[in-house]
Amino acid sequence: MRPKIVAGNWKMNLTFEKADQLLFEIGELIEEKKTKGVEIIICPPSPYLELATDFAQDFEIKVGAQNVSQYEDGAYTGEISAAMLSSIDIDFSIVGHSERRKYFAETNASLAAKVDRLLEYGIQPIFCIGEQLEERESNKHFEVVKSQLVEGIFHLSQSEFSNIVIAYEPVWAIGTGKTASPEQAQEMHAFIRQLIIDQYGEEQAHETSILYGGSCNAKNAKELFAQADVDGGLIGGASLKAEEFMAIANSF
Ligand code: PGA
Repeated sequence: MRPKIVAGNWKMNLTFEKADQLLFEIGELIEEKKTKGVEIIICPPSPYLELATDFAQDFEIKVGAQNVSQYEDGAYTGEISAAMLSSIDIDFSIVGHSERRKYFAETNASLAAKVDRLLEYGIQPIFCIGEQLEERESNKHFEVVKSQLVEGIFHLSQSEFSNIVIAYEPVWAIGTGKTASPEQAQEMHAFIRQLIIDQYGEEQAHETSILYGGSCNAKNAKELFAQADVDGGLIGGASLKAEEFMAIANSF
């Protein structure tokens, strides 16, 4: 059965002290509430990755990066390679978040290369897809999501693909307080799963976790996670508050 996952994307927030404090608070809540059957992944800014992996030795969490270089190594100032992430025991990396597509000109082709680098080092990509508001309004949302999947990850072999986590994040819902309705999320998640069936077969599609992201919070998580094809969430703003984040993790 595919894992239920709640991943916190801290984005470019928090100083070292605040990050340390947030990890401590999450740890206390994990001890108290004994969250069961949910994989919790924390994706802090890269200077705090090791802080988080230290913490992950004592608590049941996994650590993810927010981005990775498409290049192997060498003269790429400012980049962080998959080999580096692997050398500090990072398990996951977000790839293709819409903010990176928008502000850093990431394309489906560069994202496909990032996914390849991660898989070479045994790191699981959390591959983000999702349409813009205009695309939904002009009824192009299915087409857009399909081409993001086909161009970004459908070049993978079945065994490579088995390491992929997908996050459907409609761009109009990210950081806007405007969540997709449970029906809208389910409709798109079912569409994504069908595409995986067509490409990799029923069994693989059944094993692939598809997360929802975009203004997911402690109030709406339960209804979203109750949908048949929603296997958890990629949480931005609400992952910066320990209580709220853990309430979301307990929403299955
Ligand atoms: P949000 O962000 O929860 O703040 O909308 C989600 C994301 O960007 O991953």
